[in-house]
Amino acid sequence: MLRLRYVKGGLERLEEHGKVIIKPQENKGHWESLFSNNNPIHVEFGSGRGGFIVKIAEKNPNINYLAFERNSKVIIRGLNKLPENPPTNFYFVHSDIKKIEDIFNFNEIQRIYLNFSDPWPKKKHNRRRLTYRGFLKLYENILIPNGELHFKTDNNGLFEFSLEELKERGWKVMMITRDLHNSEYIEGNSMTEYEEKFVQRGQLINKFVAISPKK
Ligand SMILES: C[S@@+](CC[C@H](N)C(=O)[O-])C[C@H]1O[C@@H](n2cnc3c(N)ncnc32)[C@H](O)[C@@H]1O
Repeated sequence: MLRLRYVKGGLERLEEHGKVIIKPQENKGHWESLFSNNNPIHVEFGSGRGGFIVKIAEKNPNINYLAFERNSKVIIRGLNKLPENPPTNFYFVHSDIKKIEDIFNFNEIQRIYLNFSDPWPKKKHNRRRLTYRGFLKLYENILIPNGELHFKTDNNGLFEFSLEELKERGWKVMMITRDLHNSEYIEGNSMTEYEEKFVQRGQLINKFVAISPKK
Protein backbone atom coordinates (compact mmCIF):
# COMPACT_ATOMS: atom_id res chain seq x y z
CA MET A 1 0.00 0.00 0.00
CA LEU A 2 1.07 3.59 -0.71
CA ARG A 3 3.20 4.82 2.21
CA LEU A 4 2.64 8.42 3.22
CA ARG A 5 4.82 10.89 5.04
CA TYR A 6 3.81 14.26 6.41
CA VAL A 7 4.41 17.26 4.16
CA LYS A 8 3.28 20.72 5.15
CA GLY A 9 0.10 21.64 3.29
CA GLY A 10 -0.07 18.12 1.92
CA LEU A 11 -3.74 17.46 2.60
CA GLU A 12 -4.46 16.68 -1.04
CA ARG A 13 -2.06 13.78 -0.76
CA LEU A 14 -4.17 12.49 2.12
CA GLU A 15 -7.20 12.43 -0.14
CA GLU A 16 -5.29 10.57 -2.86
CA HIS A 17 -5.07 7.70 -0.44
CA GLY A 18 -8.78 7.03 -0.87
CA LYS A 19 -9.46 6.27 2.80
CA VAL A 20 -9.57 9.88 4.04
CA ILE A 21 -12.35 12.38 3.54
CA ILE A 22 -10.90 15.90 3.60
CA LYS A 23 -14.04 17.80 2.55
CA PRO A 24 -16.69 16.02 4.64
CA GLN A 25 -19.15 18.92 4.24
CA GLU A 26 -19.72 17.69 0.68
CA ASN A 27 -21.21 14.45 2.04
CA LYS A 28 -23.75 16.15 4.33
CA GLY A 29 -27.16 14.49 4.00
CA HIS A 30 -25.98 11.75 1.61
CA TRP A 31 -23.31 9.75 3.38
CA GLU A 32 -25.01 6.60 2.08
CA SER A 33 -23.63 7.31 -1.41
CA LEU A 34 -20.06 7.15 -0.07
CA PHE A 35 -20.74 3.69 1.36
CA SER A 36 -23.16 2.63 -1.41
CA ASN A 37 -25.68 1.41 1.19
CA ASN A 38 -28.11 2.68 3.85
CA ASN A 39 -26.49 0.95 6.81
CA PRO A 40 -26.32 2.76 10.17
CA ILE A 41 -23.40 5.15 10.70
CA HIS A 42 -21.27 5.00 13.84
CA VAL A 43 -18.55 7.62 14.40
CA GLU A 44 -15.53 7.99 16.66
CA PHE A 45 -14.64 11.56 17.57
CA GLY A 46 -10.90 12.00 18.22
CA SER A 47 -9.96 8.60 16.81
CA GLY A 48 -6.19 8.98 16.90
CA ARG A 49 -4.63 6.38 14.60
CA GLY A 50 -7.96 4.59 14.24
CA GLY A 51 -6.91 1.11 15.46
CA PHE A 52 -10.18 0.72 17.41
CA ILE A 53 -12.52 1.66 14.61
CA VAL A 54 -10.75 -0.46 12.00
CA LYS A 55 -11.10 -3.48 14.33
CA ILE A 56 -14.83 -2.93 14.93
CA ALA A 57 -15.43 -2.20 11.23
CA GLU A 58 -13.95 -5.60 10.39
CA LYS A 59 -16.20 -7.25 13.02
CA ASN A 60 -19.40 -5.45 11.89
CA PRO A 61 -19.61 -5.26 8.09
CA ASN A 62 -23.25 -4.07 8.25
CA ILE A 63 -22.38 -0.83 10.03
CA ASN A 64 -20.56 2.12 8.44
CA TYR A 65 -17.77 3.76 10.44
CA LEU A 66 -16.18 7.21 10.32
CA ALA A 67 -13.09 8.05 12.37
CA PHE A 68 -12.82 11.81 13.00
CA GLU A 69 -9.36 13.20 13.71
CA ARG A 70 -8.15 16.80 13.38
CA ASN A 71 -4.42 16.08 13.39
CA SER A 72 -3.28 15.14 9.88
CA LYS A 73 0.02 13.71 11.15
CA VAL A 74 -1.91 11.27 13.32
CA ILE A 75 -4.12 10.28 10.35
CA ILE A 76 -1.02 9.59 8.27
CA ARG A 77 0.31 7.29 10.99
CA GLY A 78 -3.06 5.53 11.00
CA LEU A 79 -3.07 5.15 7.21
CA ASN A 80 0.39 3.63 7.29
CA LYS A 81 -0.87 1.04 9.80
CA LEU A 82 -3.99 -0.02 7.89
CA PRO A 83 -4.28 -3.67 6.88
CA GLU A 84 -3.53 -4.47 3.23
CA ASN A 85 -7.26 -4.67 2.48
CA PRO A 86 -8.86 -2.06 4.74
CA PRO A 87 -12.56 -2.53 5.47
CA THR A 88 -14.82 -0.92 2.84
CA ASN A 89 -17.18 0.25 5.63
CA PHE A 90 -14.60 2.61 7.16
CA TYR A 91 -13.07 6.05 6.41
CA PHE A 92 -10.99 8.62 8.26
CA VAL A 93 -12.46 12.14 8.30
CA HIS A 94 -9.99 14.99 8.66
CA SER A 95 -11.99 17.51 10.66
CA ASP A 96 -12.45 19.20 13.99
CA ILE A 97 -15.48 17.97 15.94
CA LYS A 98 -16.61 21.59 16.29
CA LYS A 99 -17.72 21.41 12.64
CA ILE A 100 -20.01 18.38 12.81
CA GLU A 101 -23.18 20.36 12.19
CA ASP A 102 -21.77 21.29 8.77
CA ILE A 103 -21.04 17.62 8.11
CA PHE A 104 -24.20 15.81 9.24
CA ASN A 105 -27.91 16.54 8.98
CA PHE A 106 -30.24 16.08 11.94
CA ASN A 107 -30.66 12.38 12.82
CA GLU A 108 -27.92 11.11 10.50
CA ILE A 109 -25.90 9.15 13.09
CA GLN A 110 -26.79 6.15 15.28
CA ARG A 111 -23.83 6.03 17.66
CA ILE A 112 -20.87 8.14 18.80
CA TYR A 113 -17.72 6.74 20.39
CA LEU A 114 -15.47 8.99 22.49
CA ASN A 115 -12.37 7.06 23.55
CA PHE A 116 -9.71 8.57 25.81
CA SER A 117 -10.60 12.11 24.82
CA ASP A 118 -8.08 14.80 25.77
CA PRO A 119 -8.87 15.55 29.46
CA TRP A 120 -8.09 19.31 29.47
CA PRO A 121 -7.53 19.16 33.26
CA LYS A 122 -7.54 22.93 33.88
CA LYS A 123 -11.01 24.19 34.83
CA LYS A 124 -10.66 27.19 32.52
CA HIS A 125 -10.41 24.75 29.57
CA ASN A 126 -13.55 22.76 30.42
CA ARG A 127 -15.32 23.98 27.25
CA ARG A 128 -12.74 22.14 25.16
CA ARG A 129 -13.63 18.75 26.67
CA LEU A 130 -15.57 16.71 24.12
CA THR A 131 -18.29 15.97 26.72
CA TYR A 132 -18.80 19.67 27.57
CA ARG A 133 -22.52 20.54 27.36
CA GLY A 134 -21.93 22.58 24.18
CA PHE A 135 -20.57 19.47 22.43
CA LEU A 136 -23.40 17.30 23.85
CA LYS A 137 -25.87 19.72 22.27
CA LEU A 138 -24.22 19.25 18.87
CA TYR A 139 -24.34 15.45 19.34
CA GLU A 140 -28.07 15.60 20.20
CA ASN A 141 -28.74 17.22 16.83
CA ILE A 142 -26.88 14.78 14.61
CA LEU A 143 -27.91 11.62 16.52
CA ILE A 144 -31.19 9.81 15.84
CA PRO A 145 -33.71 9.88 18.75
CA ASN A 146 -32.29 7.60 21.46
CA GLY A 147 -28.88 7.68 19.76
CA GLU A 148 -25.98 6.31 21.79
CA LEU A 149 -22.81 7.83 23.24
CA HIS A 150 -20.14 5.27 24.25
CA PHE A 151 -17.42 6.83 26.39
CA LYS A 152 -14.17 5.35 27.77
CA THR A 153 -11.43 7.11 29.73
CA ASP A 154 -8.67 6.43 32.23
CA ASN A 155 -9.15 9.96 33.61
CA ASN A 156 -11.43 9.99 36.68
CA GLY A 157 -11.82 13.77 36.66
CA LEU A 158 -12.99 13.77 33.04
CA PHE A 159 -15.33 10.86 33.77
CA GLU A 160 -17.09 12.59 36.69
CA PHE A 161 -17.26 15.86 34.72
CA SER A 162 -18.85 14.02 31.79
CA LEU A 163 -21.52 12.42 34.01
CA GLU A 164 -22.41 15.88 35.36
CA GLU A 165 -22.68 17.28 31.85
CA LEU A 166 -24.93 14.38 30.75
CA LYS A 167 -27.23 15.08 33.70
CA GLU A 168 -27.35 18.77 32.83
CA ARG A 169 -28.48 17.97 29.25
CA GLY A 170 -30.93 15.20 30.22
CA TRP A 171 -29.06 12.17 28.81
CA LYS A 172 -29.90 8.75 30.30
CA VAL A 173 -26.97 6.58 31.48
CA MET A 174 -27.63 2.95 30.43
CA MET A 175 -24.44 1.30 31.70
CA ILE A 176 -21.54 2.48 33.81
CA THR A 177 -18.39 0.96 35.27
CA ARG A 178 -15.31 2.45 36.87
CA ASP A 179 -13.25 -0.68 36.22
CA LEU A 180 -14.17 -1.97 32.77
CA HIS A 181 -11.48 -4.66 32.61
CA ASN A 182 -12.67 -6.34 35.83
CA SER A 183 -16.38 -6.02 35.03
CA GLU A 184 -19.03 -8.04 33.21
CA TYR A 185 -18.87 -5.45 30.40
CA ILE A 186 -15.40 -6.53 29.26
CA GLU A 187 -16.84 -9.20 26.95
CA GLY A 188 -16.67 -7.97 23.35
CA ASN A 189 -14.58 -4.92 24.32
CA SER A 190 -12.27 -3.71 21.54
CA MET A 191 -9.24 -1.89 22.92
CA THR A 192 -8.05 1.43 21.54
CA GLU A 193 -4.36 2.33 21.22
CA TYR A 194 -4.48 4.50 24.38
CA GLU A 195 -6.42 1.85 26.27
CA GLU A 196 -3.71 -0.75 25.59
CA LYS A 197 -1.10 1.62 27.00
CA PHE A 198 -3.11 2.45 30.14
CA VAL A 199 -4.11 -1.16 30.83
CA GLN A 200 -0.44 -2.23 30.60
CA ARG A 201 0.35 0.38 33.26
CA GLY A 202 -2.39 -1.06 35.50
CA GLN A 203 -4.68 1.97 35.26
CA LEU A 204 -8.42 1.42 35.67
CA ILE A 205 -10.68 2.21 32.72
CA ASN A 206 -14.03 3.99 33.18
CA LYS A 207 -16.87 3.47 30.71
CA PHE A 208 -20.45 4.61 30.24
CA VAL A 209 -23.09 4.27 27.55
CA ALA A 210 -25.68 7.04 27.48
CA ILE A 211 -28.80 7.69 25.39
CA SER A 212 -29.55 11.13 23.95
CA PRO A 213 -32.56 13.03 25.32
CA LYS A 214 -35.80 13.48 23.33
CA LYS A 215 -35.67 16.52 21.04
C1 LIG B 1 -5.75 11.05 23.54
S1 LIG B 1 -6.02 10.74 21.85
C2 LIG B 1 -7.02 9.25 21.87
C3 LIG B 1 -6.99 8.52 20.56
C4 LIG B 1 -7.87 7.25 20.44
N1 LIG B 1 -9.28 7.57 20.59
C5 LIG B 1 -7.46 6.19 21.41
O1 LIG B 1 -8.22 5.94 22.36
O2 LIG B 1 -6.41 5.56 21.21
C6 LIG B 1 -7.19 12.00 21.45
C7 LIG B 1 -7.24 12.33 19.95
O3 LIG B 1 -8.35 13.21 19.73
C8 LIG B 1 -7.97 14.20 18.78
N2 LIG B 1 -8.84 15.37 19.03
C9 LIG B 1 -8.91 16.09 20.16
N3 LIG B 1 -9.82 17.09 20.06
C10 LIG B 1 -10.34 16.97 18.80
C11 LIG B 1 -11.31 17.73 18.08
N4 LIG B 1 -11.92 18.79 18.62
N5 LIG B 1 -11.60 17.34 16.81
C12 LIG B 1 -10.98 16.27 16.26
N6 LIG B 1 -10.05 15.51 16.89
C13 LIG B 1 -9.73 15.86 18.14
C14 LIG B 1 -6.50 14.46 19.07
O4 LIG B 1 -5.84 15.02 17.94
C15 LIG B 1 -6.00 13.06 19.45
O5 LIG B 1 -5.48 12.38 18.33
